[in-house]
Amino acid sequence: MPEEAFPEASTVGLSAAEYERKLAARDKTIDVLKRRIAQESRHSHATPFAILEQHVGLEKVVARKTLELENERHELEKALTELRFTQVQLLQAQKMESIGQLAAGIAHEINTPTQYVSDNVGFVKAATVSLLTLLDSALALAVVAREKMAEEPVVAEFDAVLKRAKVEFLRRQIPGALDESLEGLGHIAKIVAAMKEFSHPSRNEKELVDVREVINTTVTVARNEWKYVAELETQFEDNLPQLPCLRDMIGQAILNLVVNAAHAIADTIQQGVREKGSIIVSAARDGEHMEIRVKDDGGGIPVGIRDRIFDPFFTTKAVGKGTGQGLAIVYSTVVDKHDGRIHCESEEGVGTTFILRLPLHCHKEESPACK
Ligand SMILES: Nc1ncnc2c1ncn2[C@@H]1O[C@H](COP(=O)(O)OP(=O)(O)OP(=O)(O)O)[C@@H](O)[C@H]1O
Ligand SMILES: [Mg+2]
Repeated sequence: MPEEAFPEASTVGLSAAEYERKLAARDKTIDVLKRRIAQESRHSHATPFAILEQHVGLEKVVARKTLELENERHELEKALTELRFTQVQLLQAQKMESIGQLAAGIAHEINTPTQYVSDNVGFVKAATVSLLTLLDSALALAVVAREKMAEEPVVAEFDAVLKRAKVEFLRRQIPGALDESLEGLGHIAKIVAAMKEFSHPSRNEKELVDVREVINTTVTVARNEWKYVAELETQFEDNLPQLPCLRDMIGQAILNLVVNAAHAIADTIQQGVREKGSIIVSAARDGEHMEIRVKDDGGGIPVGIRDRIFDPFFTTKAVGKGTGQGLAIVYSTVVDKHDGRIHCESEEGVGTTFILRLPLHCHKEESPACK
């Protein structure tokens, strides 16, 4: 992974095709120079010593030129890789933005009916208590009525309705059904709130955020990725300070790490080692930094690939499952965009922990949120 920041799209002057053309042109120049040496030596009428001298001189020039061109070629190749990564990042950002807008729209649509269904179910639950009290009085009244006016048709009718209604069954089931409905609606409301929060449009400006909220929202949104393979726990230190950051980018970075953790655990489950793994996402202050950890007990990262995991497009996953962009995006978010650090501790067969260290103070001029 190059240390330098990836160029922003607007500062990338050349397109990938132009870079490729430049590389081809360099290769051609080297060929031409080589051919010229060969030609010079074939057609020259000078003495053998002069030819040799000329030859050595030319070779030196060519060697120097070749080195220069090789360096240039290396630079161009680096720029080309960076450009490709920036393009992918831009595409990814655009995709996320449209998914975000769509999700926010759907969340909004679901939110309104959820609100009134919740209110109504709450009302029915309160009304049921009154109705059941009323039913108890009616049953007591029926006992007296049966004794005092047994021949009245209204009494027989009441008993018939009572029999059909299976009152005892209803009395047992209704409160539970309403409680479950309210719980389910509460769950929907939580997911909808998380979707709205997550798809909050980026203002591309750092703001002070509550990291616990970002983590809780992210794990709720990513629930479907981990719930079948792991128990997920969050651990937050008391009195966590707010973090100046690009909220949705940090959310996206944590999401990528959680998804990777779930995949790593899923692989071990497929090998039949166990039924469920564990993911712990934690946040704690460490001096002038906020430390966010994503820990899993998956299969770990093999030593041989550890220095490549942050490279753009490096993946060990099957086509369609991974594109190798996740950690490159996390790296760029943490290091380039937030001046933070990221590293991982991993042991094969034990698990992996990714540790993000984000500064609690950034440059004042960068954004009003940074003091
Ligand atoms: N928690 C982890 N445990 C084990 N291996 C991991 C873990 N996180 C990442 N890796 C390894 O690092 C590689 C690169 O991860 P990265 O997130 O960049 O790409 P990906 O997950 O393969 O694809 P993408 O994130 O684009 O869907 C993975 O293919 C995997 O081999
Ligand atoms: Mg990934």
